Amino acid sequence: MTIETQNDIVKLQLIGKIVADTLKLMIREAKPGMTTLELDQIGAAYLEKFNAKSAPRLMYNFPGTTCISVNEEVAHGVPGNRVLKDGDIINIDVSAELEGYFADTGGSFVLGESNEIQRKVMRATKEALEAAIAVASAGKPINLIGKAIEKIAKKYNLKIIENLGSHGVGKSLHEEPAFIPSYFDKNDRRILKEGQVITIEPFLSSKSRWVEEARDGWTLFTEAGSVSAQYEHSMIITKNKPIILT
Ligand code: CO
Ligand code: CO
Repeated sequence: MTIETQNDIVKLQLIGKIVADTLKLMIREAKPGMTTLELDQIGAAYLEKFNAKSAPRLMYNFPGTTCISVNEEVAHGVPGNRVLKDGDIINIDVSAELEGYFADTGGSFVLGESNEIQRKVMRATKEALEAAIAVASAGKPINLIGKAIEKIAKKYNLKIIENLGSHGVGKSLHEEPAFIPSYFDKNDRRILKEGQVITIEPFLSSKSRWVEEARDGWTLFTEAGSVSAQYEHSMIITKNKPIILT
């Protein structure tokens, strides 16, 4: 969506804070021995307090409230009976709707002691998100986002997951501009517009450039042993720095 009124901003900031706080709470509460379903229920209870509805459930009938992806799972992991353990790298993606407005956020973390590769992938992906946000302003080519992410991936000698991208958000979970790649696409002529609401969400990995869909029809995974991370913010594009909603 593109911002038209002050009310649009207020409502987006409201749902943005709710999903951001849900993500923080779930990261804090994640413990070894807990199932991903138990962790999802903590997020669900928090969203419910604010009458916010799970966006993936609302839009796609996703069988969970949040997406929880562990180790070789990269995104859209379905909460269930998988038990979390020390050393797991976990991605939680929280998106929700309130009064017709949607916000989307996500983050990766390690339970307990992390290893060197996990730390490198997480640090690089965070840095890639910051670098992309720094170049996202009205009037600039959309492909600067991928260019900024690619530069950081190269610096750390990591791979970009090429079939996952950033996207428009606001009145729906996924809207125009559709699929903003995390790599530089010189043929992408789209220009960022003032007031446009988008996510930026790089996915970097130690080995894989591609995710595949699991037999459950949801979970996106890479080859075993590939470590990946994602960090995501929803934001409003302005002439200067974006207004971060999450
Ligand atoms: Co998300
Ligand atoms: Co998203």
